[in-house]
Amino acid sequence: MELQIESAIELLLAAILTSLVWTSGAAESPPLVLGFNFKASPNPDVSHFQPLLNDSSGTYSLGFLRVNQDELSLSILHAASSVPLWSAAPTRPPRWASPAHLLFNGSLVLSDPHTGAYWSTHTTGSRVWLSNTSNLVIDDASAVLWQSFDFPSDTLVENQNFTTAMALISSNGLYSMRLGPDYMGLFARFSDSDQIYLKHTALQAKADVIPGRPIYMVLESDGYLGMYQNGSLPPVDVQSFNTFQQNVSGIRRVRIEPDGNLKGYYWTGSGWVLDYQAISEPCELPSACGSYGLCKPGKDCSCLDNRTVHSSGGCVPPHIKKSGNDFCGGYDNNRFGVLRRTGVELPYKELMGYRRTASFEECEGSCEGNCTCWGVAYSNSSGFCYMLDYPIETLVAVRDEGKLGYFKVREGAGKKRVGAWVGMGVGLLVGAVLALAGVVGLWWYKLRNRGVKGYGDDEGGVGVGPYKDLGAASFRSIQLCER
Ligand SMILES: *[C@@H]1O[C@H](CO)[C@@H](O)[C@H](O)[C@H]1NC(C)=O
Ligand SMILES: *[C@@H]1O[C@H](CO)[C@@H](O)[C@H](O)[C@H]1NC(C)=O
Ligand SMILES: *[C@@H]1O[C@H](CO)[C@@H](O)[C@H](O)[C@H]1NC(C)=O
Ligand SMILES: *[C@@H]1O[C@H](CO)[C@@H](O)[C@H](O)[C@H]1NC(C)=O
Ligand SMILES: *[C@@H]1O[C@H](CO)[C@@H](O)[C@H](O)[C@H]1NC(C)=O
Ligand SMILES: *[C@@H]1O[C@H](CO)[C@@H](O)[C@H](O)[C@H]1NC(C)=O
Ligand SMILES: *[C@@H]1O[C@H](CO)[C@@H](O)[C@H](O)[C@H]1NC(C)=O
Ligand SMILES: *[C@@H]1O[C@H](CO)[C@@H](O)[C@H](O)[C@H]1NC(C)=O
Ligand SMILES: *[C@@H]1O[C@H](CO)[C@@H](O)[C@H](O)[C@H]1NC(C)=O
Repeated sequence: MELQIESAIELLLAAILTSLVWTSGAAESPPLVLGFNFKASPNPDVSHFQPLLNDSSGTYSLGFLRVNQDELSLSILHAASSVPLWSAAPTRPPRWASPAHLLFNGSLVLSDPHTGAYWSTHTTGSRVWLSNTSNLVIDDASAVLWQSFDFPSDTLVENQNFTTAMALISSNGLYSMRLGPDYMGLFARFSDSDQIYLKHTALQAKADVIPGRPIYMVLESDGYLGMYQNGSLPPVDVQSFNTFQQNVSGIRRVRIEPDGNLKGYYWTGSGWVLDYQAISEPCELPSACGSYGLCKPGKDCSCLDNRTVHSSGGCVPPHIKKSGNDFCGGYDNNRFGVLRRTGVELPYKELMGYRRTASFEECEGSCEGNCTCWGVAYSNSSGFCYMLDYPIETLVAVRDEGKLGYFKVREGAGKKRVGAWVGMGVGLLVGAVLALAGVVGLWWYKLRNRGVKGYGDDEGGVGVGPYKDLGAASFRSIQLCER
């Protein structure tokens, strides 16, 4: 009984406090603290960002950010530049249009009444606030219970502690930065497993790494990424920026970019200036020219297959790339053509495993019959045979004709997509066969009138247009299925 009265009083107090906060923060400016029972929904008229909570200095703002047209992301922006510094990572992204809302009931929760919670901090705090260092904090009277600094997205800001338990992940989900026992690594997720493409081991100039103890990394105001093992000792490594030990007045940030590079910037008051990049030669990025691309120094992109013209999307239609991670089993999944090329090399071969073989043919042979293998790169001079167990990305052009490559190219992917699409269409449209026939008939008629070859045609290039349309159509039907 006592407990009940106590909690009722608590609730009442909380409600009064919340309304006070609300009225004081009314009109235009959002409140500086979110109290119990705070609730907000996305405004359909907002095209970019809807602020919900600012920090005391007005430098940062937490709010709803519109991404990919109609998806909603709960993000912290640097207000003056609109650069996102942090985003919540929900299991699936809510739509801006759906009745999604953010509420605070001890936990900060992003949910909608139909599908439930997308994301929650699972805390029992009493308030939410944003620090003037862009850290979103949930605390109660005695302690910090949750902070966004412990769950970074793609960005690290000044003095934020980056530990071995964390990862920075690029906005497209392809690349990540993590710490090892004594190094910083960049990883690409081209298949189910991660491939490391940059490894910076601690130089240990001022302090040694003591085995068995985790390291951590901090972006220092002095213009460097410091690696530490123990705060009271000097760093075990320093990666200095162009503005190392210079007096920049603005804040700094480091971000893992959608191209896989790790870049550092500082704010001048009117713009961000780049002063660090982990990979300075563009061809050394993990996929500088997209899949099946070939990179010549200066990021001059072409295709491994010299009959294909390089475009912004790379050298292979995207749906072919996406249709499966290997050639094992399955209907139509194991068919491939072969592409060979001389004067090519892997961009990060020193971080890849290899075997020694007596010849290119032997190297190639070990891949040909192995359904998880996508290709090999071979060095005639060293006999090193590098096996690729993920879909082919970009290779680097070298003058040495003794550097050889063998690559599998998926075939029959278009056919498979059509099959899947028809199967799904039939499943979806049971009872509406006539309508389907009508639509397909009209579509077919239009295609014929435009003189485009139909999808029955199995040849690569020409069929690309219709395949692409089908890909989009099947995507839409998948979305329908999920509702
Ligand atoms: C909060 O930030 C938003 C967006 O930057 C701004 O429009 C608003 O005026 C700010 N409010 C306060 C109180 O600083
Ligand atoms: C807060 O709200 C979420 C979503 O409605 C719910 O799952 C959770 O149990 C609530 N927490 C408390 C402490 O009431
Ligand atoms: C941030 O807040 C702290 C106190 O919490 C203050 O000492 C510091 O000067 C503030 N920094 C900025 C940039 O406002
Ligand atoms: C950063 O994290 C490390 C390891 O967890 C810890 O020893 C150190 O005290 C932390 N530093 C700060 C400033 O929070
Ligand atoms: C850090 O180093 C000091 C001095 O060597 C030592 O006393 C302390 O225990 C160390 N702290 C940790 C967390 O290792
Ligand atoms: C850095 O800037 C501060 C304040 O702007 C100034 O007091 C200090 O002397 C400067 N230091 C250097 C090395 O320029
Ligand atoms: C394309 O590559 C093949 C095999 O490497 C070569 O024989 C052919 O001459 C090349 N064609 C062009 C236009 O470069
Ligand atoms: C097949 O290739 C994978 C790498 O793609 C390798 O790990 C595996 O050992 C190979 N299997 C055989 C039987 O050679
Ligand atoms: C590879 O090396 C062998 C012997 O070292 C040589 O005979 C052959 O011509 C080389 N092939 C290429 C493509 O460089």
